[in-house]
Amino acid sequence: MTSVTKGSSAPILRSTSYAPTNIACIKYWGKRDASLNLPINSSVSITLDMDDLRTVTTVAASSLFEQDRLWLNGNEENPAENKRVQRVLREIRKRVNEDIVVESDAGETITVRADDLKTFGVHIISYNTFPTAAGLASSASGYACMVHALSTLFKVQETYEGELTTIARQGSGSACRSLYSGFVKWDMGSKEDGTDSIAVQVAKKEDWKDMEAIICVVSDKKKDVGSTGGMASSVKTSPLLKHRAECIVSQRLKEIETAYANQDFETFGRITMQDSNQFHATCLDTFPPIFYMNDVSRAIVQLVHKYNEACGKIVAAYTFDAGPNAVIFVEKPNVPTLLRALLSSFPSNTDGRIVSSSDDAILNVAEAESSKINDDSENTFLNWSKNILGARYLNTDSVKRFIHTRVGDGASSANDAISHLADEATGMPKEKYWLGQSLLKKKRDVVVKLG
Ligand code: DP6
Repeated sequence: MTSVTKGSSAPILRSTSYAPTNIACIKYWGKRDASLNLPINSSVSITLDMDDLRTVTTVAASSLFEQDRLWLNGNEENPAENKRVQRVLREIRKRVNEDIVVESDAGETITVRADDLKTFGVHIISYNTFPTAAGLASSASGYACMVHALSTLFKVQETYEGELTTIARQGSGSACRSLYSGFVKWDMGSKEDGTDSIAVQVAKKEDWKDMEAIICVVSDKKKDVGSTGGMASSVKTSPLLKHRAECIVSQRLKEIETAYANQDFETFGRITMQDSNQFHATCLDTFPPIFYMNDVSRAIVQLVHKYNEACGKIVAAYTFDAGPNAVIFVEKPNVPTLLRALLSSFPSNTDGRIVSSSDDAILNVAEAESSKINDDSENTFLNWSKNILGARYLNTDSVKRFIHTRVGDGASSANDAISHLADEATGMPKEKYWLGQSLLKKKRDVVVKLG
């Protein structure tokens, strides 16, 4: 929804959007054109539920604003120094061609002409409901949200399906997939101008209702090698990356799309894990090598394989982006046992680990684990877990937080005035706007201690 400051001949237009993160099952890694963010291979991802992780962005535009300004999680940044933001604003402004009619307090209508709108300064105010740069794809939700909010504010219509995803892609490649819900493919395309390098929805979130995920936050620190730089070096130096793009990815994409359509977890899970492993192998094949996974990540890989072995088939599948944090896909009936295996295999000797979920049943499972501190006779699951992992992973606080989530919706507009992060009269950020989580659906966190 676009909201407008009334009673002024120089109105302030506002629009607010929400956008989710996504996690790739077939990874995007490598660009054939770095300025347009055109990839060397297609990729596919699952959009995660915004009840658990989301970006909220308000954009405000007015002739009263002398320049574009940007606030992220409470800090002001200079958009003139940020090429990606520049590209997004340029692409949006190019497409503004509708006049906007607003109403004054006196009931008079004011028409803001499209040519004038293009010259308006823009304020972009944004926050994440999860730690930025923690390897949880904040750039994907961030740019998807910016594009959604700006295109809504300026009434930019797509002239072909997926056009808005080409703008989000120019902010950050993976952002193009966050505009849609469910299972989303980013077609690499072949045109030089990138107009066919778009995201398309392959399956709706309702198509696999039981698909859920547990995110293991191993580190919430900013990564040493960013995706953009890492990709550039892999493209230059890794023969494995070239082989992957030319000979592996297209077959995997076909197989995983069929698996998703048939809710065939075994195939889906196998391909997801293999592709994550191959992506990290290309990082190791890059010269000098890039290490995103750490010892804890590798222990999670081992645990998932042993858990699957104990279950007699693949019922859980890990994947890692450019960081040590794991996302483990698992169908709803298996979430409680997997969570218990994780909690007992990665104990905390200090403050405990946080389990976040919007599902009370899962939080109850976490709470029950907490009451079994060191009571091996009661905690047979702990013994089971010790047996499957060989040993508990005793590094203090090796996994800090578990976030239980599910497949979710794509970017959308916020329809209530209270969600706007910009003040109605000034277009400036509202005080402590980054604490707006309280406006979102309530979810509980449980601290689990099992020392
Ligand atoms: C490993 O989309 O963050 O998460 O286009 O340079 O902004 P830029 O990179 P980005 O890279 C994401 C890489 C990945 C895999 C994926 O999401 O497909």
